[in-house]
Formats: sequence, C-alpha cells, structure tokens
Amino acid sequence: MRIVLLGAPGSGKGTQAKKLMDAHGVPQISTGDLLRAAVAANTELGQKAKAAMDAGELVADEIVIGMIRERLGESDTTNGFILDGFPRSTAQAEALDTMLNELGQPLQTALLIKVEFGNLVKRLTGRRTCSACGQMYNVYFSPPQTDGVCDRCGGTDLAHRADDNEETISNRLNVYQQQTEPLVAYYDTQGKLASVEGEGPLDEVFARIETALA
Ligand code: AP5
Ligand code: ZN
Repeated sequence: MRIVLLGAPGSGKGTQAKKLMDAHGVPQISTGDLLRAAVAANTELGQKAKAAMDAGELVADEIVIGMIRERLGESDTTNGFILDGFPRSTAQAEALDTMLNELGQPLQTALLIKVEFGNLVKRLTGRRTCSACGQMYNVYFSPPQTDGVCDRCGGTDLAHRADDNEETISNRLNVYQQQTEPLVAYYDTQGKLASVEGEGPLDEVFARIETALA
C-alpha cells in the first residue's frame, strides 16, 4: 500500500491513517508529527519550523521534502506507507513523484477525505491527544469515558495542540484552500484520485476508505 491522504485540517487524516496502519501493517508517515517531535526536541530543524507552525503557515518545502526523503529511506517502508499531511504544495507533490519513481515504487492512490468546512473548526478546537500513548479524543464527538483520563492508558495529560486555536485554525484552512487543494486536480489528472465522505462515525468513514482502496 503506497498512498497519500489528502484533506483539510481536521478532516480525519491522522485518525484514519492510524486505522489503516493497524489494518495493513504499513507505517503512517505524518509530517505534522515529525515536525512537532523536532520542535519538542528543539533540534535545528525544529527551530526553523516552529514559527511557521505556530502561525498555521506551511513550513518551507525544502525542509519537509528532505524529511520525507530521509523517512522513505528507512527499512519499514518496503511494504509501503501512508503519507499523512504530505504533500501539501505542488512542489512537494512533484518532489514526491520524483522520489518514488527513483525508488521504483510509484504512488498508487491519493485519497481525499471530504468534510464540510463548517464542521472542521469544532473538530480541531475539541481535539485532545494523550501525551502518554498518543490516543486521540474529541471533547465534542468522542470524549474519554472519564473526563480528563485516557481510556487506553489511564494517562491524565490530554493535551491541546498549540495550533488548535481559532485564529491559527482559520489561517490553516486558508492555507489549505490556496496551497493544498490544487493537489486534488493534480492527482485527478494522473488518474490516481479517490475520494470519500469524511462525515459520520469513525468506523463508517474507515469502511468507506477500505472500499475506495480495494
Ligand atoms: P498537521 O499536523 O498535518 O495538521 P493538519 O493538516 O492541520 O491536520 P490535522 O492533524 O489538524 O487534522 P487531521 O486531518 O489529521 O485530523 P485528525 O484525524 O487529527 O500539520 C500541522 C502543521 O505542520 C501545519 O500547519 C504546517 O505548519 C506544518 N506542516 C505539516 N506538514 C507539512 C508539509 N507537508 N508542508 C509544510 N508544512 C507542513 O482529527 C481531528 C479531530 O477530529 C480529532 O479530535 C478527531 O477525534 C476528530 N474526528 C476525526 N474524524 C472524525 C469524525 N468522522 N467525526 C467526528 N470527529 C472526528
Ligand atoms: Zn493514553
């Protein structure tokens, strides 16, 4: 399985990528997660990326392309990958095509998860992630059974992402429309686009994705 998940911030790319990873045994590669880890570790790359991330702007293409080139070279990608949050600009998509052609592993499908723009803000402001195990919750749609306590590991730090505030969210949605949405046409032209409705229960969205990829 060699796929890209496309969709606006909050459309459910991360949520569904984890389900695909569990079902198919291929790694989720999230540029957002890789960048947040670099910021948390205060690496040189993290220091370069932080201001753009805080503002909801895209991090420079050469930084993320370099990160992906390195990640795709690791041994766990021989059976494929699920790219989540990359590519996000035409330059990134072209660089990815070049990289995968060099590896002799062309992309199979770009899967677009479609969600009404009006529903995205609540998904993002309500998102919480367990700092201990990474399990994701949403205070509006899928809260933990006990307020503030992770169902999976019992952790009590359910963190709110720094860029999940209304001002940054609004910019992230604008950036998506201007810089990332053109990739829908890019992959459609290549005959690689598939799309699913991203509204409704998580398992129903997942079933639609499995059908679209079959
Ligand atoms: P990134 O981490 O990629 O954030 P994003 O694209 O804004 O996507 P999100 O993680 O916010 O949303 P998602 O679609 O994964 O939704 P999720 O499953 O979490 O990027 C962050 C920043 O890093 C960028 O702004 C940029 O600065 C930088 N960056 C990253 N990649 C880059 C690149 N390639 N180039 C340049 N810069 C880059 O779900 C959201 C919430 O909704 C959760 O609470 C979830 O529980 C809930 N939810 C999910 N599905 C449903 C459902 N069906 N019904 C109800 N609620 C649901
Ligand atoms: Zn947990």
